[in-house]
Amino acid sequence: MTSDLPLQILGGISAREFLRDYWQKKPLLIRQAIPNFESPLSPDELAGLALEEQVESRMVIEHGERPWELRRGPFAEDVFQNLPERDWTLLVQAVDQFVPEVAELREHFHFLPSWRIDDVMISYAAPGGGVGPHFDNYDVFLLQAHGQRRWKIGQMCDSDSPMLDHADLRILAGFDETDDWVLEPGDMLYLPPRLAHFGTAVDECMTYSVGFRAPSAAEVLTHFTDFLAQFLPDEDRYNDADIAPVSDPHQIQMDALQRLKSLLDEHMGDERLLLTWFGQFMTEPRYPELVAGEELSERDFLQALQDGAVLIRNPSARMAWSQVDIGLLLFASGQSRLLPEHLLELLKLVCASDALHQENLAQWLADDDGRNLLWELVKQGSLEFADE
Ligand code: SIN
Ligand code: CO
Repeated sequence: MTSDLPLQILGGISAREFLRDYWQKKPLLIRQAIPNFESPLSPDELAGLALEEQVESRMVIEHGERPWELRRGPFAEDVFQNLPERDWTLLVQAVDQFVPEVAELREHFHFLPSWRIDDVMISYAAPGGGVGPHFDNYDVFLLQAHGQRRWKIGQMCDSDSPMLDHADLRILAGFDETDDWVLEPGDMLYLPPRLAHFGTAVDECMTYSVGFRAPSAAEVLTHFTDFLAQFLPDEDRYNDADIAPVSDPHQIQMDALQRLKSLLDEHMGDERLLLTWFGQFMTEPRYPELVAGEELSERDFLQALQDGAVLIRNPSARMAWSQVDIGLLLFASGQSRLLPEHLLELLKLVCASDALHQENLAQWLADDDGRNLLWELVKQGSLEFADE
């Protein structure tokens, strides 16, 4: 089984061992996870991204008495000229959506569901820079890309952990250091959710954070029930046919609770709707405006492929597929489609799609359901023609 092979990216343990012993449980330091790693992006290029309107960026600047000032991007071009020599960090979110070489890093994590990955955030720090001791509610792989960064890790935290009184940043009031490592380019640190950590740039450095996402129980409940409610007619109500005469009319009796529970079970227990909601929710793009799609006739679509055009996944799109009793579900950027079983290999191809063209699509373009699906995905914006 490939999941039992030792992986360099995990320091020589297998995906199975990593998932059993570390994932969501404890940190793992991996020296030379990607040997001789060189950042595909320079500090200047990262700074350039932080000037752009559609890119989410922030800067954390430490001042002697007023620690950790947060500034939000997009930044003006001259901002970098007026920064101190030390003690600041620039953080740019979702760089994988803008730089294909950064998106390729996600391939190292194919032993986990791709819909669990949130984004690749990149930070650049001047010597001494850091965002303060904190915890995140997500798993993260911190890959050192340039220069050295010291990472300290500490206690497990939760929403009751004491925080500094800070308007913009969640900084821990206490930090019980358990380990301290200096990471070199190519080294990587895996951190489970809620573990306190604190990174400081030893020299000018860049760190890539491959961040994961997991919906909170509160999100699952509110979003799923909102989704469900769309399908429920107003007349579907609490029902007490066959109620026994009550002894005290002011009492809410246990049989009312049982009726309520069966009403909930009837709807919440609908697995197909739960899966449909979950697939839609987990493939919701981070920046929906970047999955805009285009008006395109079927004729022009087919002609473009015939002329040698290549289809790729829109880097801002998210896709996943699943199987249900009545067919296949494809989730593409927050939308779901029920599709016939014979499209299984096409769905896999589309979800993994790096390059789809006349040759590898031939069989599917000859199939009405397949051709239609591809055309719909281009119009929706999840697939797009690559610029040659
Ligand atoms: C950083 O890269 O500076 C911060 C990443 C983190 O601690 O979440
Ligand atoms: Co963090």
